[in-house]
Amino acid sequence: MATRPISIAVDGYSSCGKSTLARDVARRLGYLYLDTGAMYRAVALALLRSGLSLTELGSNEEKLARFLEINKVDVVQGGDGEAQVLLNGNVVNVELRSLEVSRIASLVSSWPLVRRTLQAVQKAIGERKGVVMDGRDIGTVVMPHAELKIFVVADFPVRVQRRRDELRGRGIEANDEEVAEDLRQRDFVDTHRAADPLRRAPDARLLDTSQLTREQQCEVVCNWVSEIVEKDP
Ligand code: DC
Repeated sequence: MATRPISIAVDGYSSCGKSTLARDVARRLGYLYLDTGAMYRAVALALLRSGLSLTELGSNEEKLARFLEINKVDVVQGGDGEAQVLLNGNVVNVELRSLEVSRIASLVSSWPLVRRTLQAVQKAIGERKGVVMDGRDIGTVVMPHAELKIFVVADFPVRVQRRRDELRGRGIEANDEEVAEDLRQRDFVDTHRAADPLRRAPDARLLDTSQLTREQQCEVVCNWVSEIVEKDP
């Protein structure tokens, strides 16, 4: 197994299995895992709690800057080796997963000031080796120097099923058409926003997870890591 720690960037569309894969790989290699989507979600949660108007904040950079100063999103290393996202010093994991937070996170992640603020924290963490980060702009903006970049894809029906199962696991029932429409909308926003749209870095390896089990996906990535380290120990 690989010894020299490297940095790994994992990008891709929603519900392709990025986070599960990134977490599994980090655990297997003893790396730090950072879910950057959770940071955008934390900003969205702060906004929902504040009761401020989305349109007002999105159109006024001065107000938004003040809002981001008051609502601090920090990252600390948790005991399990995973990076823990904090909102004003508090753990907010469960609240981050609601459908409403997802919807607002998609909007706030298109605001350049929000991106610059969160990317500064992510880039500082990306300076260290032995890190796996997943998101939409990791290989292109946050860790363009990453030794391994992965762009995860999966067939659309597979993504719909994964998303529906994930929601069901949290007690939320949704039919396939609703889930499909939600995914289509997120894909559109992620790939069409002006600031750091989701795109595959030219040097990113494509990983199609449609036909692979969780274990197989982790195996493929760990083999890539070994390959990279063996080539340049
Ligand atoms: O991966 P996720 O669904 O938890 O991400 C939440 C939102 O944040 C999603 O709309 C995409 C956005 N995001 C982003 O723009 N850049 C990232 N690096 C991570 C997430």
